[in-house]
Amino acid sequence: MTEQLGQLVEDARERLLQVSCDRDMEQARIDFLGRKGMLSVMSGKMKGLSPEERPVFGKALNRTKMAVEGLFEEAASRLAGVSGGLVGAEAVDLTLPGRKFPVGSKHPVTRIIDESVAIFRRMGFTVADGPEIETVYNNFDALNTPADHPSRDPMDTFYFSDGRLLRTQTSPVQIRVMKSVEPPIRIVAPGRCFRRDTPDATHSMNFHQIEGLYIDRGVSMADLKGVLLAYAHELFGPDVSIRLRPHFFPFTEPSVEYDFSCIMCGGEGCPVCKNSGWLEIAGAGMVDPAVLEEVGLEPEIWSGYAFGMGIERIAMIRYRISDIRLLYENDLRFLEQF
Ligand code: PHE
Repeated sequence: MTEQLGQLVEDARERLLQVSCDRDMEQARIDFLGRKGMLSVMSGKMKGLSPEERPVFGKALNRTKMAVEGLFEEAASRLAGVSGGLVGAEAVDLTLPGRKFPVGSKHPVTRIIDESVAIFRRMGFTVADGPEIETVYNNFDALNTPADHPSRDPMDTFYFSDGRLLRTQTSPVQIRVMKSVEPPIRIVAPGRCFRRDTPDATHSMNFHQIEGLYIDRGVSMADLKGVLLAYAHELFGPDVSIRLRPHFFPFTEPSVEYDFSCIMCGGEGCPVCKNSGWLEIAGAGMVDPAVLEEVGLEPEIWSGYAFGMGIERIAMIRYRISDIRLLYENDLRFLEQF
């Protein structure tokens, strides 16, 4: 009988090793320590013993009970450790199905930037970067912008009290790169820009541009047109054509604005292109000799082109978004569509 008691302790030890949740634990407790459990079955055997045997068996029974209770305590604290030391209602129920973590998606602006950078990389451009807080020199002066140019007005540009500003365009990156890198230069620079515009369906005080700059010997307007056409085809497909219109920028000469044929109507005319058949994408031109001189490049030797386009504008065309503000409201019903 004493052997049976020893076996009971071993059985309890083995059983408790397999316990992995509160429910298993409770069942084990009923089986070993419950009213009809193994221990009470054993103590029932007391009746059949002689008066001499009883106290000996009684002691052995008590020792067994204590050993088994000790094993249960151990098992209980092991279980509490598994559930992060929490008890009761706070404990982790390992039998519950797991919680799903929803996977996010890229913001449409990020998508257009990533795609555009990938396209220009394939054409041999590298990525350059510049700060969002710029000097007046980099954002305006070095870009040949006259002192009385309206874009400098505090009504249009955010200035800091120390005289610096929030860049109004990515073009200051041109200056930084040309001053620090020897030509040939072939870079694109995506980034945030800021203007004091009143927000509406097509204007935001905070928007993104991607700047392009190519400086080498004998660069021509034809190179610019070729790169822009290749970009249009990669982004919107082979049916898109582009159009350059004469324009003015202080830092390019000649300057153009370039349009893509409307991707909605294919150039027929529709509400998106306001019946013109064309979508205005950005500004570009041949780097003005005054800018080259400012950064210490000899205009007789070096020439180049630059372009700058609005990312939001392209995202809105690409994904048929009617209001620029949707891009910044972080409404999941909108963002989850991408
Ligand atoms: N920086 C100009 C703008 O914001 C665009 C531009 C870039 C034009 C490069 C010419 C060359 O409108």
